Amino acid sequence: MALIQARGLSKTFGSKAAVKGLSFDVVPGSVTGFLGPNGAGKSTAMRLMLGLDNGDGVTTYDGVAYRDLKQPLRHIGSVLDAKPFHPTRKAVNHLRMLASSNAIAKSRVNDVINLVGLGDVANAKPKTFSLGMGQRLGLATALLGDPGTLILDEPANGLDPQGVHWLRNMLKTLAGQGRSIFVSSHLLSEMALMADSLVVIGRGSLIASGKMSDFISTSNRNAVVIRVDNSELMTRELRARHAAVVTEPDGKLAITGMDSDAVGGLAHELGVRVFELSNREATLEEAFLDATGASEEFRASMGFGAGQPPAFGGPMAGAPRGYGGQQGYGGQQGYGGQQGYGGQQGYGGPPPGQGGQQGYGGRPPDRGDRQDGGNR
Ligand SMILES: Nc1ncnc2c1ncn2[C@@H]1O[C@H](COP(=O)(O)OP(=O)(O)OP(=O)(O)O)[C@@H](O)[C@H]1O
Ligand SMILES: [Mg+2]
Repeated sequence: MALIQARGLSKTFGSKAAVKGLSFDVVPGSVTGFLGPNGAGKSTAMRLMLGLDNGDGVTTYDGVAYRDLKQPLRHIGSVLDAKPFHPTRKAVNHLRMLASSNAIAKSRVNDVINLVGLGDVANAKPKTFSLGMGQRLGLATALLGDPGTLILDEPANGLDPQGVHWLRNMLKTLAGQGRSIFVSSHLLSEMALMADSLVVIGRGSLIASGKMSDFISTSNRNAVVIRVDNSELMTRELRARHAAVVTEPDGKLAITGMDSDAVGGLAHELGVRVFELSNREATLEEAFLDATGASEEFRASMGFGAGQPPAFGGPMAGAPRGYGGQQGYGGQQGYGGQQGYGGQQGYGGPPPGQGGQQGYGGRPPDRGDRQDGGNR
């Protein structure tokens, strides 16, 4: 249930700046989605947050850095990689080992195995696991210590529809219990159902952070839609009042630059009969494409004769949006402070074959400038 404060996260790989001075907050009691195009720096930022990569900046959890947490799995659960385990150590043994190194009751192992639906394969070797089964084991690991904070990189990747549904409900429930959930995903429709807040980045820089509803409301795809008996007159008078009007194929007018009260009032003034008047809200995907179009690193071509790049427009990366802003969550007070973490170090780094993802405190493995990159 920690307030996460990331400040000035930066990382370069050779001459490539992957993350540039990224600062944001993740508040308890909500699911915060972490969005950005491929290569935007999400996985790198998450590794930095957990001290798993060398770089600049500081991330604190109720004021305490990850490396200073005494039994980190009891505070922060993370899944940064779809297969974060030794290939031949049975799933149940993998969890038992982690439980014992974090002073977690053994009984919890079976609980989390069943919770993630791996009861039937608890004694199987993870190298035989599918991508989705690996994700589930990663989630079991993250949940093992019943942590107040979860940091998950693309946790829905590889899950079947039931798994995605289960994950969404579970994360929402955990957030409802006051926990802090920070989750990246490319599934925007899923994110729209799950997240309350967003951190959006592009090319390593912050584009926006704050409430999802505020993010969507800034999209230029929001419109007032009206169906009237005299579209020509209505269009002319709307444009005379500097509203932008698009006539849709079914004859409805989509209007931006004027709210629905004003549009309805104008119709009344003009004596135009109104058959339909509504607000159309942009989808998260539309808002995301608007916001990140300029910072997309790997733009695919349509390839079948369209000839035009997608016209996303939208603000340039590097100019964070100003609705609430990243500092708008109030201070650190009120989230429980930093009591209870002790601050003692000394888990000695990850055990063999763990890749360091679960974070055992101690000195993080030095990933340096390796080129293989984990979950990217
Ligand atoms: N180990 C590495 N060595 C060299 N470059 C890296 C490494 N890890 C990441 N990068 C580069 O840093 C940038 C950010 O990568 P990162 O994996 O953080 O992006 P991402 O937002 O997680 O992308 P995706 O949505 O595809 O998962 C990319 O340009 C990537 O090529
Ligand atoms: Mg990634």
